[in-house]
Amino acid sequence: MKVIMTVNGGQIEAEVPDRTLLVDFLRDVAGLTAANVGCDTSSCGACTVLLDGQSVKSCTVLSAQADGRAVVTVEGLASGPEEMHPMQRAFRAEHALQCGFCTPGMVMAAVSLLTENPLPTEDEVRTALEGNLCRCTGYHNIVRAVLAAARDGAAAGSDEAVVGRRSA
Ligand code: FES
Ligand code: FES
Repeated sequence: MKVIMTVNGGQIEAEVPDRTLLVDFLRDVAGLTAANVGCDTSSCGACTVLLDGQSVKSCTVLSAQADGRAVVTVEGLASGPEEMHPMQRAFRAEHALQCGFCTPGMVMAAVSLLTENPLPTEDEVRTALEGNLCRCTGYHNIVRAVLAAARDGAAAGSDEAVVGRRSA
């Protein structure tokens, strides 16, 4: 089937098998490999992206379900190749990653949270990120990073990402 979607602000059109998952479309068709496949069973969150502004686990969404819609991956968050989104800066500043496998999904889930709740409490951050697993960090620095990004007004930058205005 033919699928057309906006990915990080650019339109992508491709003929794919009906059962193609969104994460496979992003990785294999769009060439965007930040969304990782950690489990394929909706458990780890490593594949999290924004679909029309809502965070989704892209291993649980068919590319057909994203037809005509806007997807933002972590590659589309920053405003340019030399830039980082405030959430990415906070992850770096707070040492919120080690191996980095979970990080793209974690960042997208955090961006989605701040869009809905610009100043979450620590408990709200922990609850929002429950679906994203990290085997390295123990989560404390991730939570600190999200809280720091919230204090720094990362939600404002997130709005732009959510609507997918940036080009890939
Ligand atoms: S690969 Fe999608 S939730 Fe783990
Ligand atoms: S930094 Fe390694 S899984 Fe999170």
